[in-house]
Amino acid sequence: MFEDANPVVLGLSGGLAILSLYLFSQQMRRNRSLPPGPRGLPIVGNMLDMPKEYEWQHWAKHKDIYGPISTVNVLSTRVIIINDLQTAIDLLENRSSIYSNRPTFPFAGEFIGWNKQMILSQYDERFRLMRKYFKAYVGTKSALIPHKNMQEMETKYFLARVLQNPTSVLEQIRRSAGSIFLKLSHGYTIETSGSDTLVELVENASKEFHTATLPGEWLIDSIPWMRYLPEWWPGQHFKKVGTVMREHNMEQALRPVEFVKRQMEKGVEYPSFTSTLLRRGLTATEAEIIPWGANAMYGGGTDTTTAALTTFILVMVLYPEVQKRAQEELDTVVGQGRLPGLDDRPRLPYMEALLNEVHRFHPIGPMGIPHCVTQDDYYNGMLIPKDSIVLVNLWLIAHNPEVYPDPHKFNPERFYNTDKPQLDPQTFVYGFGRRACPGRELANANMFLLMSMMLSVFNISKAKDENGVEITPKIEFGSGTVSHPKPFPFSITPRSKDAEAFVSSIFEDHPPPPSNAKELLDIYSWIWSLSATSFKGLVFTSPILRTFGLILRNHTNLRSIAALVPGKASIAATSN
Ligand code: HEM
Repeated sequence: MFEDANPVVLGLSGGLAILSLYLFSQQMRRNRSLPPGPRGLPIVGNMLDMPKEYEWQHWAKHKDIYGPISTVNVLSTRVIIINDLQTAIDLLENRSSIYSNRPTFPFAGEFIGWNKQMILSQYDERFRLMRKYFKAYVGTKSALIPHKNMQEMETKYFLARVLQNPTSVLEQIRRSAGSIFLKLSHGYTIETSGSDTLVELVENASKEFHTATLPGEWLIDSIPWMRYLPEWWPGQHFKKVGTVMREHNMEQALRPVEFVKRQMEKGVEYPSFTSTLLRRGLTATEAEIIPWGANAMYGGGTDTTTAALTTFILVMVLYPEVQKRAQEELDTVVGQGRLPGLDDRPRLPYMEALLNEVHRFHPIGPMGIPHCVTQDDYYNGMLIPKDSIVLVNLWLIAHNPEVYPDPHKFNPERFYNTDKPQLDPQTFVYGFGRRACPGRELANANMFLLMSMMLSVFNISKAKDENGVEITPKIEFGSGTVSHPKPFPFSITPRSKDAEAFVSSIFEDHPPPPSNAKELLDIYSWIWSLSATSFKGLVFTSPILRTFGLILRNHTNLRSIAALVPGKASIAATSN
């Protein structure tokens, strides 16, 4: 049958067939040497096996079936799951030069611009510079010394607000964390009560970040070239949504920097990360990182600290004997006439053990933040291919019964006054290698202060139902990158009349400075980033309309997204 065929064509076809076979067998060999994992479907791979919630529990099952390291494939992306500490240290710490990248997110990262933020930055020069400045300002114990008084004062204001409105504790935890981070990042003072312009801006942007990074939600994440298709092409709706989100992202980063510049011009700035770098006369390329480095303090710190401190409240309700033990230590070391401060930390080992047990009991980032490997690597004979996404199950590490006996019990004694303390959970809850959390020292200091000040003046206990019967809350946590306890009832009361009098005098003795919200509202810098549609053009040419537009804008950020994305309003409004 091949008699008439051209021998050259025949030769080429044969060659191509052999080459394809060779490439296929190579691919099969590569696949065979990957860490083990479930068999996937053609093209979509293990897409249907991906967890929708409680990711850490889902991936924990892999350890029993496949061992400490496993693989799944989602379309063309390979995901490596690490379920034990030693493997995480071997790869992410000891080989951190190649395991420190982040995956790219075509929609959230590239289209919207969240890849300018430290957390999603690629591991390059710009990132290293940003991280260096960040760490120099708040990343070490000694860097935090100048901020000690401010942290203590803000935490005292927290106590006073809780006394005024005990049911608002969780809201006040977030407010207190936010006010410390915005002071550090921009020297900005937030409103003492009610909503605050800057807080709303950054909170809104972070909710949009969660919406934009929802797995499988945006077609462009699976088919990145979709962004180059014309607007009229089906499935281009993401462009409208993404453009609004991009404006909000720019606005939250640029507007507070403009605020700092104006404060500096007037000579009234409160020293901050931003003012320190602005004063330094950086090159334009270097200065580009300032808004994003500053943004990483509120963005990286507020939700995480709030989640951890909410866990603290939950365990105080459930383990009254631990609370009592901590209060005894505070009473003995600090006494009743004053509040504990950061200088007392070395003399409060039980409080320190309590802090560590809060971290361990439920790591607030149960699956950490994904790393990405920049070149092919081999580990125990297994191939970790270049560009694989690497996830570490921090929750499972924290609940390994060989390391932490009776792991579901909250027990600070694991780390207290013993010859053989159990493994310090800070070895892993803050992540690994060159991407490990740069806010660790700051987070620990804030948590320590709030926990110890709170326990010295308040009792945290079970709430009672309408019949006066105590309600025992369930231990339940939500899913997501940052995992918070689900809402639970509790009660907060002053420990004594003296404690109450002491806390109620805080505002009187130290009146809080006025908020900077008004100055921020006066700044239109964010208009630069708006795309010049005719409607916006009209609104922003007149000062009256402009002010109206600004107010409107501040109150409609969420709704504007909700209107564009049917069904996303609730996601945006409820995700933390
Ligand atoms: C309970 C408190 C906190 C916990 C448990 C926590 C945990 C983490 C974890 C697990 C990571 C990922 C590390 C990795 O990829 O290996 C991370 C990254 C990060 N955290 Fe935290 N964090 C906390 C508080 C804070 C605070 C207070 C700040 C800022 C003031 C902050 C800023 C950041 C930033 C900017 C990153 C990204 C670092 C990078 O990509 O290089 N975090 N954090």
